[in-house]
Amino acid sequence: MATKRFAVINGPNLNLLGTREPEIYGSKTLDDIAKETQEKLKDQNVEIEWFQSNIEGELVEKIQQLSTQDLTALIINPAAYSHTSIAILDALKMTPFPVVEVHLSNTHLREEFRSTKITAKASTVVMEGLGSHAYYMGIMSQLL
Ligand code: DQA
Repeated sequence: MATKRFAVINGPNLNLLGTREPEIYGSKTLDDIAKETQEKLKDQNVEIEWFQSNIEGELVEKIQQLSTQDLTALIINPAAYSHTSIAILDALKMTPFPVVEVHLSNTHLREEFRSTKITAKASTVVMEGLGSHAYYMGIMSQLL
């Protein structure tokens, strides 16, 4: 079975998972979630690259770099940029592979402004409310 390559991109403030509003986002750090996701996928032949940035331009550059690579899919939690960033939407629209947008929380149960997802217009799949399983489920959605 050929190895399937995935990238997981995380936007602003997700570096503080574990301490950031744990009642909404849980108590696991991004590193804990990355390790757990890898462990849950141990029987699948997958390689996962993780990236996090608080800076919009860095996220755009990372998406552009990944677009030159042979990925099975890109999983992205754009965090607050989901609600604001046309630049990230435009970069995602140029990817030659599917994009899966994930959110740990169900944003529809939260403030009204979180219901608008500018970046999701470039996504094949959008998943919300799965907490720390979001990245695992996002990858699995592209292995079916
Ligand atoms: C989030 C939801 C966003 O509204 C918020 O700005 C985040 C995290 C989530 O994973 O639930 O930073 O993307």
